[in-house]
Amino acid sequence: MKRIQYHEYGGPEVLRLEEYEPARPGPGEVLVRVRAAAVNPMDAGIRRGRLKMVTGRKFPRGLGHDFSGVVEEVGAGVTRVRAGDEVLGGAGIQGAGAFAEMVVTAATNVTMKPANLSWEEAAALPTPAVTAHQALTVKGRLRAGQSVFVAGALGAVGRSAVQLALTMGATVAGSCRDTAAGEARDLGVAPVVGFDFDPAQLAARFDVVLDAGGKLPLRTMRTLVKPGGRIVDIVPTPAKFARAALPGPYEVLVTKESAADLDHIAGAARDGALRLPIAATVPLGEAIPALTEFEHREGPKGGKLIIVP
Ligand SMILES: NC(=O)c1ccc[n+]([C@@H]2O[C@H](COP(=O)([O-])OP(=O)(O)OC[C@H]3O[C@@H](n4cnc5c(N)ncnc54)[C@H](OP(=O)(O)O)[C@@H]3O)[C@@H](O)[C@H]2O)c1
Repeated sequence: MKRIQYHEYGGPEVLRLEEYEPARPGPGEVLVRVRAAAVNPMDAGIRRGRLKMVTGRKFPRGLGHDFSGVVEEVGAGVTRVRAGDEVLGGAGIQGAGAFAEMVVTAATNVTMKPANLSWEEAAALPTPAVTAHQALTVKGRLRAGQSVFVAGALGAVGRSAVQLALTMGATVAGSCRDTAAGEARDLGVAPVVGFDFDPAQLAARFDVVLDAGGKLPLRTMRTLVKPGGRIVDIVPTPAKFARAALPGPYEVLVTKESAADLDHIAGAARDGALRLPIAATVPLGEAIPALTEFEHREGPKGGKLIIVP
């Protein structure tokens, strides 16, 4: 079997496409034959060692989290899926890496793939959509009839948040690059503003302000939020955790693995309410240069980079 792995933390130059022997699934785990895997910003962060307190110093490490594929084998006690099931899910932060021909993960990290999604569309969803769902519901406590502002409304998390908030009966405003305003409006965002908007024009209008691009100044978010509303930041730093511990509207999300949330986002996709665009699809054998280029690309990425074994 082949997978993309690395033997030390570092930039994209540490990546290798190498042979490996996937583990047999242990109790509660599944072995999945990967059909497509999607690139997320956190993959590069983990590879650079930014989460080494969690990911440790055991090498080689696989790369990649989100995938779709077919269950090859299940471990003891697994009832959630069976061999032959088509699934989407995540490899887990300690996991074997999804940029591979086979991946082992907890059965709670996969859910049935909606039949109306391609392998690529299914692989695109897990991390961005679960993050958006948890940002809106757990941290934002969003309810039907409320209003949300999504900064970076056309990124993977932002676009997921727009679509999920609309399914919840909320109204959604947001920001994106000026040249993409029409695309945001087509998604149901109103009003749409550019990244350099004047927050005073939307002061105290929103029950939930979600910074899905990680770029909004705190004072802008404070201007936008209604009294009693919530500000949700998804790009954590130690300083932000300290701020979130203080009383007030500010919350920081670290996405948690959740079988229920994966089921929820797959349900929204099955209903036709949730899709993410694909920027490019590359074979596993050509993925390292594509990953390197994608990581360094300035400007809009145009959707998810997908790797197919
Ligand atoms: N807390 C967690 O557990 C968690 C989980 C998932 C993701 N994240 C983080 O969330 C962030 C977004 O992830 P993603 O997968 O959605 O990435 P993505 O698809 O690359 O989206 C990033 C978005 O930010 C937009 N952006 C660029 N400049 C901006 C600005 N000045 N103001 C507002 N938005 C701006 C980009 O617009 P253009 O495309 O036009 O440049 C793009 O739409 C990343 O930092 C990621 O690491 C955190």
